[in-house]
Parts: sequence; C-alpha cells; structure tokens
Amino acid sequence: MSALEKIDINNTPEHIAIIMDGNGRWAKQQGEDRLFGHNIGVESVREVLKGAQQANVKYLTLYAFSTENWNRPKEEVEGLMNLLVHTISNEVEELNKNNVCISTIGNLDGLPGDCKAEMQNAYEQTKKNTGVQLILALNYSAKWELMNAVKSIANKVKENSLTINEITEQVFADELTTKNIPDPELLIRTSGEHRVSNFLLWQIAYSEFYFTEILWPDFKRDNLYEAILDYQSRERRFGMVSEQIEKTS
Ligand code: IPE
Ligand code: IPE
Ligand code: MG
Repeated sequence: MSALEKIDINNTPEHIAIIMDGNGRWAKQQGEDRLFGHNIGVESVREVLKGAQQANVKYLTLYAFSTENWNRPKEEVEGLMNLLVHTISNEVEELNKNNVCISTIGNLDGLPGDCKAEMQNAYEQTKKNTGVQLILALNYSAKWELMNAVKSIANKVKENSLTINEITEQVFADELTTKNIPDPELLIRTSGEHRVSNFLLWQIAYSEFYFTEILWPDFKRDNLYEAILDYQSRERRFGMVSEQIEKTS
C-alpha cells in the first residue's frame, strides 16, 4: 500500500504551510554553491504541489523568502529573486493546466519591480482557477503583518469606523494577509530546525507541527504523505480532554 493510499482522504488538512529549509546545506553536501540548492528546491515545490492535489489539500502556503533573508549575501538574494521570476514565468501555463491558483502573502512592495510584476501577472492569470491555492510567502514576516493589522485597527478606531468593543478575533484576522484563508491545520518544517522563524504567528495558534530532518531539495511527494499520515494519527484536543473529543467524532 502506498503512502497516498493510506491517507484518509476525508480527513486531510485543508491547509498545509511549509517552511522549506535546508537548500544551502543540501548544496554544500553536493559540493555546490547555495544557489544550486535553491534551484533544485524548485523541483520539490512541484512535487509537493502535485502531492497536495492528490491528497485533497486545498491551500498550500510555502515560505519562500522572509524579511530577514534580505540580510543574506547580495549574490544569494539576487539569485533567489531571479529564480523566482524565472520559475513563476515558466510555470504559469502549467499551473493553469492544473487548475492551480497562485497568490502571495508578504510585503510585495519591497520586492524588485520585475518580481512584483511577475507575481501580479501570475495571480491575474490564475485567479479564476478552482483547484489548489498555492500561496507564496514572499518578503513575509509575521511581526510585520501583525504590526500592520494593529495600525489599521487603530486607524479605524481613530476615525470612528470601529469601536474598541467591536475588535474581535475575526476582525483582527481580517486585517491579516491571510484574510479568507483558513488557518493551517499542519505546519511542516524541513532540515531539522525546530523554530518558526517569524512565520504565520497568529495563524498557527492551533496548528500541528511536523519536523523532519530531510533537507528541502530531498523532500518529495511521499514525504508530504508521511507528514499527512502523522497528522492523521494525532488527536487535536483544542484545550478539551480526550473523552470529549471521542464523543463528538
Ligand atoms: C531555505 O533554505 C530557502 C530559503 C530560506 C530561501 P536555506 O537557504 O535556508 O538553507 P540552509 O538553511 O542554509 O541549509
Ligand atoms: C526560514 O528559513 C525562511 C524560509 C524558509 C524562506 P531560514 O533558513 O531563513 O530561517 P532561520 O534564519 O534559519 O531561522
Ligand atoms: Mg535555512
């Protein structure tokens, strides 16, 4: 029985978020430079996207570039931006064929002009698709997102379009870049690092975490299925006790 066949297709996470980590270390192991690792990492993105389609996942959010990643050497940052532009322009046709809708979260205004334009173009060309929603976190920082939400709400209170008592969790969530996207049930991080690195801090309040030693360029479809199977073996209690969960399921 393959890993995919073992998955309970009616209980797959609707939203999976992935911190794709380990490209640099993978390249080093191969005696190559870091950009080689990022290039091969794109192959894993294709794999995981196909896996998500097969496993009935509706939203796939991939952490592609954090605000902190600007601090990397100039050549690496430039290489990553070029890779992004080329990959997106090459893949749009294929994404359309597969009914995938692509969008971004993060500060797009802070990206180089061609990169921003390419992402907007890809979004426009795929927005009517009804299959998997691929969301790229680009120039993303959860603290940046939370600060923006606070500022926007403060402004609305100042302008009297919102009262303090009207500020609910839903009102707050609607100010985030993930408005209209359900919170991820499963968060995966590759490469053996056990940290969140400023990713989706609000949205992962009740996510299940899955850490694997596998470096991102080695992460393939079956590895995604293994993560989903692991998720399906867990009991999500949301603060309750086991007996209460058994009663409702
Ligand atoms: C993840 O791989 C990709 C990005 C952050 C863009 P890394 O480049 O962080 O790889 P390691 O962690 O150095 O191995
Ligand atoms: C997190 O990976 C960001 C992305 C995967 C894009 P990093 O490799 O940048 O994270 P840290 O710095 O090791 O925490
Ligand atoms: Mg890393």
